[in-house]
Amino acid sequence: MSKILRLSILGAGTVGGGVLTLLRENADLLEAQTGKRFEVRHVLVRNPDKPRAVAVPPKLLTTDPQRALCDPKVHVVLELMGGLEPARTLIRDALQAGKHVITANKLVMAVSGDELLRLARQRGVRLLYEASVAGSLPILDALQGALAGNRIQRAVGIVNSTTNFILREMERALDAGEPAETAYTNALQKAQQNGYAEADPTSDVEGYDAQYKTAILARLAFLQYVPLESVYREGITHLSGRDLLWARRLNMGLKLLSISERLPDGRLCARVHPTLIPRECPLYVVRGAFSGVWLQGNGFQEMSFHGFGAGARATASAVLGDLIAVARSPKPPRYEDPSLRPGETAPIESLSMRYFVRLVAPDEDALRTLREPLHLLGAEFHPAEALEQGVEQVALTPPVNEGAFQTQIARLREQPDATVQVIRLLSAV
Ligand code: NAP
Ligand code: HSE
Repeated sequence: MSKILRLSILGAGTVGGGVLTLLRENADLLEAQTGKRFEVRHVLVRNPDKPRAVAVPPKLLTTDPQRALCDPKVHVVLELMGGLEPARTLIRDALQAGKHVITANKLVMAVSGDELLRLARQRGVRLLYEASVAGSLPILDALQGALAGNRIQRAVGIVNSTTNFILREMERALDAGEPAETAYTNALQKAQQNGYAEADPTSDVEGYDAQYKTAILARLAFLQYVPLESVYREGITHLSGRDLLWARRLNMGLKLLSISERLPDGRLCARVHPTLIPRECPLYVVRGAFSGVWLQGNGFQEMSFHGFGAGARATASAVLGDLIAVARSPKPPRYEDPSLRPGETAPIESLSMRYFVRLVAPDEDALRTLREPLHLLGAEFHPAEALEQGVEQVALTPPVNEGAFQTQIARLREQPDATVQVIRLLSAV
C-alpha cells in the first residue's frame, strides 16, 4: 500500500460528517499512528445541494456510486449511508473490486454479515464494522483481540442510545412532576436533532436497532453465527411513567437490554427487551445517550465498557479506529472467522426468570381475579393502590418458565379493562 490511503465515503450525514471532521482535525495524528496520509477522493450523497453541518468540498461530492467504487486509486470504502439497500450491494461491489470496507451499518452486518465477511476473505481485503455496535465503545475489537482467549459466559448491554436517552428523560419528567408521555415525545425529537436516532426512529424505539446489534455482538462473543430472527425483540413503546416510578420504588433501573448467554445445554439465547436491573449492576449508571456493555468471561471474570453510543464524533471515533487497523494491517487473517460457525440457538421461551407484573383493574374484585394465578406461582405482592381510574397492584414472581408464564399472562389480558404489564428482571449468572 502506498504512503497515501485514498478513501471513498458513502454518506455525509451524522456519521459521515463526523468522520470528515475527525479526518481533518486529527490528520497529523493519523499519519503518526500509521505512517500514511488519508485522502478523501469521493463523498457519495443523495442530494449534493443539501446544506450540511460539515462542509464537503463540492468537487468531492457525487451522486454516482460507481464513481466512488470504481476509482482504481481508492483503497478503502467507508459505507456510512445506512439502510439495507443499496448499502449492501455497494459493500459487495466494493469488496469484489478489491477495496477494503469499513461500515457503521448494523442492519447490513446483522442480515448479510456472513456472506460479506466470507467475500472479504476471498478477495483478500478487510471488512471492519466496529461502529455498528455501541458507537464509540471498542467492544468488537476487544472481543476479537484482547479478550479473545476467554470463554464468554454472558454479554449484557445497553446498545441503543436513543431509547436509553428517552428513558432517562422520562425519569427526569417524573422528578419534575411532568407527564412521562410528553417527555417521551420530546426526548425522541431531541435524539433525532442530536443525530442519535435512526433515519426511521421506529427502529430504535421498537428494539430493531438493538436486535441487529445483539446479533452481531452475540456472534463475536460466542463464536457462532446468530441469525437475526433468532434474537427475541421487544421495544420500549409499551412502557409508562408508572413502570419507571415502580422501578425506582424497587430500587432498580429500567433499561432496554441486549442479553446473550450460553445455556447449560450449550445453546445460545440472545434477546432484547426492557429489563429491571439492580443498583449493583454496572449498567445501572449508564444513563442518557450513553451505551454500556457488561461482559462475563471465564478468565477476566467481568468487565464493563461505558461511553457515547451514538452521535457524530463518537461514532466517527470507531470508524477511525477501523481505518487505522486497515492502514496498519491490510491483510485479512488466513483462518476462517470462528464467529461464522453454525451453532444452536434457544428461543426465549426456554428460559426461566423473575418478572415484575403491574396489574391495573377497574375495581378490587377485578383485581382479585387478576391476582389469582400469580398467587399460585408464589409471587410477592406490594399493597394495592387506588389510581385516578382503577386500582393498581405490583407483584414480583419467583423464577418461572417464560413460555408457560406468557401463556398465563395472555389469558389475564383477555379480562376486560385490565392492564397487565410484564417486565423481566435481570437474573444473576
Ligand atoms: P444520516 O445522517 O441519515 O446520513 C446518511 C447519509 O447517506 C446522507 O449523507 C445521505 O445523503 C446518504 N445516503 C443515504 N442513502 C443514500 C443513497 N441511496 N445514495 C446516496 N447517498 C445516500 O445517517 P447516519 O446517522 O449518519 O447513519 C449512517 C449509518 O451509521 C447507519 O447505518 C446508522 O445505523 C449508522 N450509525 C449511526 C450512528 C449515529 O449516531 N447516527 C451511530 C452508529 C452507527 P444526503 O445527505 O444527500 O441525504
Ligand atoms: N440509533 C442508534 C442508537 C445509533 O440510538 O443507538 C447508534 O447506533
